[in-house]
Amino acid sequence: MRILICASLLLMTMTQAPATVRTVPAVDLDRYAGDWFEVARYPNWFQRNCAGDVRASYARRADGQIDVVNRCARADGSVIEASGLARVIDTLPYHGPLLLSTNKTELSGARLSNLKCALRAERERSTEVTNEPYHLVLDVSDICNLKCPLCVQATEPRGRKRTTLTVASAIKALSAFPGAVLRVEFFNWGEPFLNPEFLTIAQFADTAGIFSRTSSHFSIRNLPDANAIIDSGLKWVVLSIDGVTQETYEKYRVGGKLRQVLANLERLVQAKRRRRAVFPIVEWQFLALRHNLDEIQPAHNRARDLGVDVFRYGGARGEMANRIRVSDQENYSQSREYLLDGSDPLSEYDPNGQKLNQHEHDGCRWLWGKLAVHADGGVSPCWTSWQRHFDFGSIQEMPLDRIWREQNFTAARAAATGARNNTGPARLCEQCASCSAFVNAPERLSGWPTKQQIHHAAESLVAAGIGIDPSLQAEIESTCDH
Ligand SMILES: C[S@@+](CC[C@H](N)C(=O)[O-])C[C@H]1O[C@@H](n2cnc3c(N)ncnc32)[C@H](O)[C@@H]1O
Ligand code: SF4
Ligand code: SF4
Repeated sequence: MRILICASLLLMTMTQAPATVRTVPAVDLDRYAGDWFEVARYPNWFQRNCAGDVRASYARRADGQIDVVNRCARADGSVIEASGLARVIDTLPYHGPLLLSTNKTELSGARLSNLKCALRAERERSTEVTNEPYHLVLDVSDICNLKCPLCVQATEPRGRKRTTLTVASAIKALSAFPGAVLRVEFFNWGEPFLNPEFLTIAQFADTAGIFSRTSSHFSIRNLPDANAIIDSGLKWVVLSIDGVTQETYEKYRVGGKLRQVLANLERLVQAKRRRRAVFPIVEWQFLALRHNLDEIQPAHNRARDLGVDVFRYGGARGEMANRIRVSDQENYSQSREYLLDGSDPLSEYDPNGQKLNQHEHDGCRWLWGKLAVHADGGVSPCWTSWQRHFDFGSIQEMPLDRIWREQNFTAARAAATGARNNTGPARLCEQCASCSAFVNAPERLSGWPTKQQIHHAAESLVAAGIGIDPSLQAEIESTCDH
């Protein structure tokens, strides 16, 4: 019997128990080879008959492949043995590479100079900045046909007026900082593909040389043709698929139809293959929840068989719109019906409901280089702000570059670094300054990538013929010149 072992799955599982143990940015095969003994187990279906003495022996072959022999003892003492080929799946950081541009020349001149200044302002926590944002979130639709229980679509059915972003508003936002924006996220609070003009918007970003990513549930009957998605120039499509059976999948993706999702996914992957298209990178994102752990491995296998580019899994977080308003512990306990237990190695929380790795945070990164625009044109300093009374302005009333330079952003930067008694929308950041849901958690699956991870991600992408030249990394980290 031949089975395929996901080396990174084992590695992550083995390295995530105590908070001080760190995952490596890349697997060093020479160090990895040899015998591994099981100390604790995250249950896999293929180990269901193993009672003890579990070990895996890895050996490099002359042709570069890796042999693996898995052994264990049954309850009656007899031995089960399975040999196969192991594969390293070096994953990119959960949110994808921070600095990805499709053309090396795009990260030069004004853009590079702006980025350097943004990173300096962020390091120095300056209230006033000379730079412009290098990263935008444009919520192309805050309407959704699903009702995931931890999303505003289920928890705040009224709240903000639901709408889709118009092409005119998108162009306003994308043109506000010429020569500064490197990357745009076309999603936030709803389903992007429910905006019939989404691909026109994506095309505009591509023409402006901006790297774009979206996230979709793909449970859409009249999804645009796969060729149109490829032609739009979208560079990365995250697909939220947290199960391989309808029963499991719909426990979180309430109202979603897995068959439809997988059929849409297959069409996209096949069209890419037919056209030998690299983009969009197709990512299967699996949120690990209380009810779906048994389906991570089968989902990984399915993704690989379908030819998906990236498979990523990680623990879900508590109710999304509540993360600013309540403490971690409260958010965790309110969401326990769905979240993994804090003792689970994949959980984003510790057993007391505290977000993990808080001690390593270095604070909010949004206010110095990024912002979010809602579908109705409202502007937020980051993508977890949902309530309208916290908007910093609206692009229907004021140009986005002015909103960025004006009082609300300056007050918010001060609030995030300790200023108190704000009365305007900057109260949002006053509340959040101690809110761990938004701070860096560099060593977790989700959260911001470390410099090493960025470097590694950039290298992998360059090796695949895309992405920035990693030699630029040193340049990016050098000082701002204005
Ligand atoms: C609000 S959704 C909007 C995009 C799209 N409707 C989707 O679900 O992919 C934005 C992202 O949040 C993720 N998400 C949903 N619930 C989450 C949770 N409890 N913790 C972390 N991420 C979550 C989704 O999978 C998606 O990638
Ligand atoms: S599919 Fe996305 S937007 Fe829709 S309810 Fe779920 S998480 Fe929210
Ligand atoms: S301080 Fe918090 S609310 Fe304010 S921008 Fe940063 S992450 Fe968002």
